[in-house]
Amino acid sequence: MDDRPIGVFDSGLGGLTVVSEIMKSLPNESLIYFGDNGRTPYGTKSKETVIKYTKQDVAFLLSKDVKMLVVACNTVSALALSEVSSAINVPVLEVIKPGAKSALKKTKSGRIGIIATPGTIASGVYSSAILNLNPAVEIFSKACPLFVSLVEEGWWNNEIARMVAEEYLKDIKKEKVDTLVLGCTHYPLLSETIRKVMGDEVSQVNSAKELALALKELLEEKEMSAAQKPARYIYYTSDSVEKFKELGKLILSADIENVERVDVGN
Ligand code: DGL
Repeated sequence: MDDRPIGVFDSGLGGLTVVSEIMKSLPNESLIYFGDNGRTPYGTKSKETVIKYTKQDVAFLLSKDVKMLVVACNTVSALALSEVSSAINVPVLEVIKPGAKSALKKTKSGRIGIIATPGTIASGVYSSAILNLNPAVEIFSKACPLFVSLVEEGWWNNEIARMVAEEYLKDIKKEKVDTLVLGCTHYPLLSETIRKVMGDEVSQVNSAKELALALKELLEEKEMSAAQKPARYIYYTSDSVEKFKELGKLILSADIENVERVDVGN
């Protein structure tokens, strides 16, 4: 048993889609979340910058005595995790492998679309993760950089979001994929808009659900599950506390208390 919190981080609000799944599957686990809203987006920045930010994010959470780390950001998982892993002395889970597995479970036609940030798409990590598990599927990828800004602005389901989605998704739609990987933790918040463009018949993969399952297994395997009830949730953001509370409440469908502003580096 281990009642210490699990550290979760992302470049901003997107990681709260992962927090929401963890809360549902593991209600006893306390969480400390860091959203780097002040420096978002990560997905359009260079690998060097993402590595620098990741080192600072990780050091901040480790200073809070977390028992595990959840990288709730595909861009960090794709570009920076291998570079910082030697500095991490607790078990770590990332989002890409669970997303790849889930896509393969869902597809029937073997035609899979991947949408993610420019950094994640350029790294090719998602396609490799899927093709390593099943080399027979066909993959069609598209970077959708504006999606993150739409989400951070709270524009999840309006006309502008729909127009942007039409433009980004038109080529993938032509390829008649039956499964679409939402390869950025911000994108599940645009799920309804994406559904309007792609249609009901295209299954969307939100890796947060698979990640929560993997986290449960890992906690059990390492005998590190929490006994304590109720769980405590503490949030840190590098930008406005008010905005984090306002949008975070919509994502988690609950009021968010305990939000503090923090600077983890430049
Ligand atoms: N939510 C993040 C991801 O999963 C990053 C978005 C961004 O900052 O560009 O990739």
